[in-house]
Amino acid sequence: MSVDKLKKDLDKVLDEALKLITNVNNHTDLENFRVQFLGKKSILNGLMKSLSDLAPEDKAKAGKDLNLVKKKINDFINDKKISLDVTTDDNLDAFDSSMPGKLSSLGSLHPITKIMNEAIDIFQSLKFEYVDGPEVEDEFHNFTALNIPESHPARAMHDTFYLENKNLLLRTHTSSVQIRTMSKKRPPLRIIAPGKVYRKDSDITHTPMFHQIEGLYIDENVSFANLKSTINIFLKSFFEKDDLKIRFRPSYFPFTEPSAEVDIEYFDNKGNKKWLEILGCGMVHPNVLTMANIDCEKYSGYAFGLGVERLAMLKLGITDLRLFYENDLRFLKQFQRV
Ligand code: PHE
Repeated sequence: MSVDKLKKDLDKVLDEALKLITNVNNHTDLENFRVQFLGKKSILNGLMKSLSDLAPEDKAKAGKDLNLVKKKINDFINDKKISLDVTTDDNLDAFDSSMPGKLSSLGSLHPITKIMNEAIDIFQSLKFEYVDGPEVEDEFHNFTALNIPESHPARAMHDTFYLENKNLLLRTHTSSVQIRTMSKKRPPLRIIAPGKVYRKDSDITHTPMFHQIEGLYIDENVSFANLKSTINIFLKSFFEKDDLKIRFRPSYFPFTEPSAEVDIEYFDNKGNKKWLEILGCGMVHPNVLTMANIDCEKYSGYAFGLGVERLAMLKLGITDLRLFYENDLRFLKQFQRV
């Protein structure tokens, strides 16, 4: 026996093992394969014994070669064992189709979006048409056309986010959409303008960005009584409470006359009775109608603007408005099914 001959024999064994292992499809065949290549009567074992015939200087090298082949064949066996364990029929029997599956986590709408959609649905059922407008507005549509004088505090830099071009700003209310609609369409008009608005405000009941739904109804003979009944119907239906206590408080807005703020009664977490302001409203000021080329002798109208976050806080029992925008999943997930 020479080193060369041994090397050739080992290569042959390895080739043969590689060919045969691909045909092994079950554990019995695998055991036969093991016996054939690594068992006592295997060729490898025979070669092992013949090592003693070699010259002492060749023995170490030949021993290494032989062990390497043994290791490779062992690896074939182990790999095959793993793939058989995964695919054999015995294993398929262990698959329990009645086990509950793993749920992949689904996203959901933000609670504010859901509350806003609920409110929009109610107004649409009262035949208000949904209209949209730009969030970056000009001073004319956000202030001037709404009868808001130059000196009004809302126009100040510390209340409103102005863009570098001083004529542009982030809208402070969606009343601007009402102006845009009035300049395009003739009465009768019955619209809601939902969307994001921006003010320089931040505390537990204010965030610099929040959502409003503003409404406008213009026709002949529209009265304050119509306004009250729409607001009452909306609030009772939104809070699903027929005996909801609603309070109209006289107030002032440059674009409505007379004007009111509307509060609703609620109970805080200590059970104390409280009022929370949730919307502003009033009869559209004749100056606003005139600026929009609507005959204020013939037509009248009402407008209202409500804060969606306020509605959400009351409906969901949240005391700090900022929680809505921290994007903490532990908070948001609580409203997945609301
Ligand atoms: N635009 C007012 C605000 O943002 C709300 C409002 C709308 C008040 C319409 C009266 C009429 O505070």
